[in-house]
Amino acid sequence: MSPTPNDWLDVEKVVKKVFAAADWQKLGELYFHEDGEQLWQDRRKLVVELGGQLARRLERFVKPEGTSLWVGAGVAELPIMIAEVLLLQRSAVAANLREEECDLLNEALAKGAPQVALHYEAGDAREVAGDQAFDHLGCISVFTDPDIWPTLSGVAYGRLPPVQLDLEQFAAEREDARELARGLYQLLDRDACITTSAEEVSWFLDLAAAEGREIDASDELIETAVVGDPVGFLQLR
Ligand SMILES: C[S@@+](CC[C@H](N)C(=O)[O-])C[C@H]1O[C@@H](n2cnc3c(N)ncnc32)[C@H](O)[C@@H]1O
Repeated sequence: MSPTPNDWLDVEKVVKKVFAAADWQKLGELYFHEDGEQLWQDRRKLVVELGGQLARRLERFVKPEGTSLWVGAGVAELPIMIAEVLLLQRSAVAANLREEECDLLNEALAKGAPQVALHYEAGDAREVAGDQAFDHLGCISVFTDPDIWPTLSGVAYGRLPPVQLDLEQFAAEREDARELARGLYQLLDRDACITTSAEEVSWFLDLAAAEGREIDASDELIETAVVGDPVGFLQLR
């Protein structure tokens, strides 16, 4: 049975409890250069709202009992993953390279929603995933992360003037990112769905094309509250 509007409101209440328990000062220091706590204060409502919208959209693409792998999962993914676990009868594996962020979000979950079976794991998503298979991959603003791939990020967002492009650095980062995309793609079931930002779609289209597989891309895109990249859904066939 599909969740009712009241079910979604209940999930929103749980998300708000987790957010109320989070240490926004420390999360602010991790995410932003300055005024982090205030910036989170301004964005929190939007994170809940847009996360809820994404979760409702995701419900159309995934089935109960399935498992999502969320790579680079942070604050923005929290409302979606809570909805998956509480409402959609799904499991979520959340991986992020930043250990401190994982600790802070796990503490908030433990205080605000101990009933939710959700835990952030610090580490490379491919290792965190182990030999599990997934029917859904969540990958939002990962391949555009300026800390890990400054050149790819500069190119993807149009920040890097062609005259300044270090081609060797670009090729090395692209190979590294391709390797990650390949590793994540290999963990997916045949008919899996990928939630990703517009700037990252091509990493997955490239892999599907190499296998002669088709991908249907959703027309509608939703902004994310933190990075601001528009996010949509890819359905593998
Ligand atoms: C720009 S942040 C985006 C965070 C969040 N998805 C959002 O949209 O607000 C990129 C995140 O991807 C994570 N990341 C990059 N490569 C990863 C990998 N191989 N495994 C797990 N996390 C990864 C980084 O640690 C970082 O937290």
